[in-house]
Amino acid sequence: MNSKKYFDEVAHQWDNMQQGFFSEDVRDKAFSVAGVQKGKIAADIGAGSGFISEGLIHKGLKVIAVDQSEAMLAEMRNKLKTGLF
Ligand SMILES: C[S@@+](CC[C@H](N)C(=O)[O-])C[C@H]1O[C@@H](n2cnc3c(N)ncnc32)[C@H](O)[C@@H]1O
Repeated sequence: MNSKKYFDEVAHQWDNMQQGFFSEDVRDKAFSVAGVQKGKIAADIGAGSGFISEGLIHKGLKVIAVDQSEAMLAEMRNKLKTGLF
């Protein structure tokens, strides 16, 4: 199975699966190390259902989210109504 097919199939469960990989604290640490600043524009490549994008939007960034999986992007759009280009 290729990765697009895999992520299309797990898109509905991804938010639950993702919680087992890393936490909001780890995400915030990564933002801090990366020097994320309010008002900037970020590209989230391989954005999935939007865990990183959501955190960036909450920090006041605009986000361009890219993913090969339309099902993952649909999950993201259902969650994030603002902040995405
Ligand atoms: C492990 S998931 C991580 C998703 C998200 N960043 C997160 O932290 O929850 C990897 C994502 O990258 C996407 N992806 C993998 N290869 C890609 C490619 N070549 N172009 C665009 N998206 C890709 C997959 O569809 C999947 O949604």
